[in-house]
Amino acid sequence: MKDQAAKLRQLVGGKNFVGDLQETGSVNVDKKDNLPYIIAITSGKGGVGKTNFTVNLAIALSRMGKRVLIIDADLGLANVEVILGCSSRYTMMDLLNSDISLAQIILEGPAGIKYISGGSGIEQMSDLSVTTRELLIQKLYACETVADIILVDTGAGVGRNVLDFLLSSDEIILLTTPEPTALTDAYAVIKACRAKTDFLNIKFVINKIYDESEGIDVGMKLIETTRRFLQVNVSYLGMIYDDRNMTNAIKKQVPLLLSYPDTIAAKCINSIAKAVLQGDSMRVKRGWRGFLQRLIFSR
Ligand SMILES: Nc1ncnc2c1ncn2[C@@H]1O[C@H](COP(=O)(O)OP(=O)(O)OP(=O)(O)O)[C@@H](O)[C@H]1O
Ligand SMILES: [Mg+2]
Repeated sequence: MKDQAAKLRQLVGGKNFVGDLQETGSVNVDKKDNLPYIIAITSGKGGVGKTNFTVNLAIALSRMGKRVLIIDADLGLANVEVILGCSSRYTMMDLLNSDISLAQIILEGPAGIKYISGGSGIEQMSDLSVTTRELLIQKLYACETVADIILVDTGAGVGRNVLDFLLSSDEIILLTTPEPTALTDAYAVIKACRAKTDFLNIKFVINKIYDESEGIDVGMKLIETTRRFLQVNVSYLGMIYDDRNMTNAIKKQVPLLLSYPDTIAAKCINSIAKAVLQGDSMRVKRGWRGFLQRLIFSR
């Protein structure tokens, strides 16, 4: 077990696992012209904890001084709203109505985070004229001025809608649980992305672990198999314990970081937020405009 831990530490560049919960000092974010950094949060298998993670990561990042915007891109299901305990009147697609402004579709969530519901219309984007798409994109550009980090909560799997979001972002955070089925499906996501591009910035989080050794095992498997069979280096970002307070927080409709801030899962998410900001590859490549162009015009 000790040897395994040392090996994963080596593979992940000496980082601690869930244990790295102390303050680690100032954050180090290299950002081009203050453009927002786009992170897509995804998984192979559904129900592994993406939406809860997205909302709580947003709160953690916001408390670390970042302006965070969540885009709910799990088309059709407005789960972010349920977890935040608020609901929006408009979706991104309502911007097609010339009377609706960007400010009207942005919802103010807790801890200063902002939220936009993607809306199911994105699936029909290809039916819209170029002029109509231009209108949408021009209005959405202004999100650049309200956020440092944009978190995109996607659906699970390797469907076209999900892959479009992943390939349009600066970074992908891939969630898995230690279950073999979740792990196999996470591998399938990496494989599907790899088939489309050589330039991947994928970091993974292992959620719902029962003990650290379980997470270490899963992390090593994922790093080694993707390196060996796909020639992709995925980075380890952190682990989150299975914690019933997560479910309690959902029942209260108050995010875990606000309702149970001292629990183990909350501490793990805070630790991951620090790792996100300290990531040495946190550089804006496509940024928000690149993301929108690809999303809206690649269809
Ligand atoms: N660390 C955790 N400990 C315990 N339960 C958790 C944890 N993370 C998530 N859950 C539970 O897992 C369930 C699914 O969470 P969530 O809705 O965030 O998953 P999802 O990946 O977004 O699902 P979907 O693929 O349907 O969008 C919820 O009931 C949530 O309470
Ligand atoms: Mg979800």
